[in-house]
Amino acid sequence: MRIAVLTGAGISAESGLATFRAVDGLWESHRIEDVATPEGFAADPALVHRFYNMRRANAAAARPNAAHLALADLARRHDLTLVTQNVDDLHERAGSPAVIHMHGTLNGALCAACGHRWAAPAVMAPGDPCPACARPATRPDIVWFGEMPYGLDRIWEALETADLFAAIGTSGNVYPAAGFAQHARRRGAECLELNLEASANARDFHRRIVGPASRTVPEWVASLG
Ligand code: APR
Repeated sequence: MRIAVLTGAGISAESGLATFRAVDGLWESHRIEDVATPEGFAADPALVHRFYNMRRANAAAARPNAAHLALADLARRHDLTLVTQNVDDLHERAGSPAVIHMHGTLNGALCAACGHRWAAPAVMAPGDPCPACARPATRPDIVWFGEMPYGLDRIWEALETADLFAAIGTSGNVYPAAGFAQHARRRGAECLELNLEASANARDFHRRIVGPASRTVPEWVASLG
């Protein structure tokens, strides 16, 4: 069976990483959308680096939970394409072999001048020189609002060939990820969401399993055999 899974901030909530909607979208009295945009970075790169330095430290201190571990187990028994909107590395640390981080990763750094990518240091600051071109144009390798998500070609392909699509811990507020269920459903996939409550695109799913991911995901994976 071909399975495509999309995860969101809800799968990492029980690992202690705050979701976006739970903190009513605020950080240090800034709207998250203001610190997660190219315009926000241009306006105040030190503030934006501080935001991602904090998130990078939080993610490093967090541990994968039973939901992350169950998806790693799923990949050992089925043809799984795992896509995440999350920028933490908890899926990898749980043992998932291949993760498509469509919104980038906290552990990645990018040079806005030459496009070079490297492993981000724990703390980044404006003016850090790019290891390749030495220009002070470094930024977190995060896909900000208004930028093109990563991996979409592979994602559309997986959605078009999946027998089963599951969205886990995502509110269905942000496109293109919020359109994945409809895309898969139109091509015959069974669509399931696992969440604490109905998501904004709940009508796109055939079924919903309600509960905390650390309980519902292991149970769902076990039910697949
Ligand atoms: N188990 C299952 N689901 C949970 C849990 C849990 N323990 N805790 C929270 N949730 C659900 C919430 O009900 C909500 O539907 O997880 C979802 C979290 O939604 P958001 O905070 O909107 O996170 P997400 O959907 O990943 O946001 C998508 O928006 O802010 C941008 O780029 C950012 O990648 C992010 C994107």
